[in-house]
Amino acid sequence: MLERVDFREAQRESFRADVIAGLAAPRKTLPSRWLYDDRGSELFERITQLPEYYPTRTETGILRDHAAAMAAFAGSRAVLIEYGAGAGVKTEILLGALENPALYVPVDIAGDFLVTAAERIENRFPYIEIRPVVADFTDDFDLPADLPKLPPRVAFFPGSTIGNLAPPDAVDLLARMRAHVGREGRAIVGVDLRKPLARLLPAYDDAAGVTAAFNLNLLARVNRELGGDFEVSRFAHEARWNEAKSAVEMHLVSLADQSVAIGGRRIAFAKGETIHTEDSRKYDLGEFGRMAGAAGWRVAETWRDAENLFAVVGLA
Ligand code: TRP
Repeated sequence: MLERVDFREAQRESFRADVIAGLAAPRKTLPSRWLYDDRGSELFERITQLPEYYPTRTETGILRDHAAAMAAFAGSRAVLIEYGAGAGVKTEILLGALENPALYVPVDIAGDFLVTAAERIENRFPYIEIRPVVADFTDDFDLPADLPKLPPRVAFFPGSTIGNLAPPDAVDLLARMRAHVGREGRAIVGVDLRKPLARLLPAYDDAAGVTAAFNLNLLARVNRELGGDFEVSRFAHEARWNEAKSAVEMHLVSLADQSVAIGGRRIAFAKGETIHTEDSRKYDLGEFGRMAGAAGWRVAETWRDAENLFAVVGLA
């Protein structure tokens, strides 16, 4: 219990430090990882069910349609290492298709979340051994030394979270996966593809306003947890395409000249000034292949939906 309280306190301090640093910068930013408090996670869950938000349903469909091929690619008695433990149904589809999986290793920074996810998998697949690892997978970390080296290890990274990383960080993460699974290992990675903006942008700015509520919840969270006095209605969500980055940029736009107090500091916003909260990069397969190549991988398999919206890539 005490440990949990300490963890909460440490989290809040790290949130405070990020908010103060991000809002003091000449181009204001807030790191996207803070979007996912309880309220934010609930809103994101609703986003995944929106008609406009194609990624989750499309990737899930690809996994269902090609589960047998993916299982063959992974090989028998695989050790499946998942980077981030929130994929739920997607994980269940792959685990359910694998032939005699030896072990499932979910890696996540949020301990509570990891335990819930592991319990869920344990209930569904009582015969699969689970070894949760608490780590920030965007940083270097070691797997437990006693994980079986053989049979082959398979890294699993669904959700196109790779697109939320700047390319050098994405290459680092792919290289880390390579180091974790070894030369004989494999990876199965979800990649959201470039597509016409008429299809892409509504996924990040839906008609019902759920995405707007999700992004704006970050300001409400600053109020709740750090005693800020953001007037949330004086900001608006904006999803902006940046062609040079091939990314949808998420922003919170100040609708007026205003200032906000956060823990004894005042932060001024000019009308039209924005807080940048997340990038969601969209790749074409050639570009993704080059990135994977730079991390020591070769694209061995590409599974896609009929509309070419999304790809699940098998790396060897
Ligand atoms: N990782 C998700 C994505 O890039 C997150 C996301 C969806 C998101 N909609 C958002 C992040 C709106 C910030 C704002 O698809």
